[in-house]
Amino acid sequence: MSKTAEVKFEGKSYELPVIEGTEKEIGINIGSLRSESGLITLDPGFKNTGSTKSAITYLDGEKGILRYRGYSIEELADKSTFLEVSYLLIFGHLPSESELSDFQNQIKVHTLVHEDIKKILEGFPSNSHPMGVLSSLVTSLTAFYPESLDPNRSSERVNLSIIRILAKMPTFAAWAYKNEVGHPVNYPDNNLDYCSNFLKMMFALPAEKYDVDPVISSALNKLLILHADHEQNCSTSTVRVVGSSQASLYASISAGINALWGPLHGGANSAVIEMLENIKKDGGDTKKWMAKAKDKNDPFRLMGFGHRVYKNFDPRARIIKKAADDVLDKLGVDDPVLDIAKGLEQVALNDEYFVERKLYPNVDFYSGIIYRALGIPVDMFTVMFALGRLPGWIAQWKEMRENNEPIGRPRQIYVGENLRPYVDLKKR
Ligand code: CMC
Repeated sequence: MSKTAEVKFEGKSYELPVIEGTEKEIGINIGSLRSESGLITLDPGFKNTGSTKSAITYLDGEKGILRYRGYSIEELADKSTFLEVSYLLIFGHLPSESELSDFQNQIKVHTLVHEDIKKILEGFPSNSHPMGVLSSLVTSLTAFYPESLDPNRSSERVNLSIIRILAKMPTFAAWAYKNEVGHPVNYPDNNLDYCSNFLKMMFALPAEKYDVDPVISSALNKLLILHADHEQNCSTSTVRVVGSSQASLYASISAGINALWGPLHGGANSAVIEMLENIKKDGGDTKKWMAKAKDKNDPFRLMGFGHRVYKNFDPRARIIKKAADDVLDKLGVDDPVLDIAKGLEQVALNDEYFVERKLYPNVDFYSGIIYRALGIPVDMFTVMFALGRLPGWIAQWKEMRENNEPIGRPRQIYVGENLRPYVDLKKR
């Protein structure tokens, strides 16, 4: 028998259906609540609100579980490649050998961007933040591929838009960096795999030979897999809401990039390094900074700590912490900031304030340290997150379209003035 929940209000009771997911998650379907009772639900920050039913990513914040399409993040980070994971997220199954090679080849065909995009890039001042440049270049694709504007086109057309953005995003990301440092851009090298091609476009200098270090390329592959999806977070919800108005894939992804930018979301990875650097400059007294983080009159928060859904540990942080040790060891990098990070983690894990509030290191706490070791500049950290999150955004946008979901339009409880007469300017 299907389960129901009861809401009682002003002597009347309303029976609402309870939905159960494949992992036994339960939710009350309040779709009929307002029309029957006049009530809406109020949940700032959507802390307890499910916005959709999704078959892409499963996350259990209490147990620290993260799975893409049923496969554990630990296994995928260990055995898979970023493009295979992208295929899995977007199309729902692990690709066969021929599906994977076809997918990789299609992406290689589209890595080049229209030469006119260079003119748009040149219009940005050379110290522009690469996140702003990236979101603008992604939006600019709507001008070069106007057929992408209609998300209701055939699935072949939609798939072509998907391939194009997957192929061009590393080019945009590397070019946004080149613009920031004022260097000439590099064109894609389709003899290389996805991560190696990106690294070459980022780091190769004119008239200098550049060989991609396989340690760096494989660390990047792991980082991108770990970031590839995270169900209904701020940027993904943005992508779905923007796409729900039937805006194009490129417009929706561009909005997601902007949502990711903030320091409470993807911007945390660069904020972590800035914070660790400040602690180092200040003499490395982690206890002093902990006290600041706990002081409610001080806006400072310990960046890289806490998560909306993970309340015991972030499984991605565990994988990254180990990967950071491996990468630093293999590259022979001795980073004093890593010692500060480890010290801070130890203090926080034993501090009553952090323990009580279940604040643990999140994915961004250690990812910045690896990016630094790989030679990626701090401003580019959030761009790296965007590169990783791209297949997740695409998969969520595609699912939302295929489920024919209604336009996203929350309600509110109005707390402003009641009706009052207009007052003439001279009488105010
Ligand atoms: N440092 C100090 N106090 C904190 C922190 C922190 N990093 N995070 C949360 N708190 C406190 C907060 O002040 C509040 O205390 P109280 O109950 O006394 O008012 C309590 O913990 C709950 O915090 P919240 O802001 O209600 O929690 P949230 O679920 O709304 O926010 C968060 C989650 C990630 C925005 C927050 O923990 C935070 O700001 N962390 C630092 C930024 C960060 O690392 N963000 C990256 C998240 S992981 C990457 C991603 O997926 O985007």
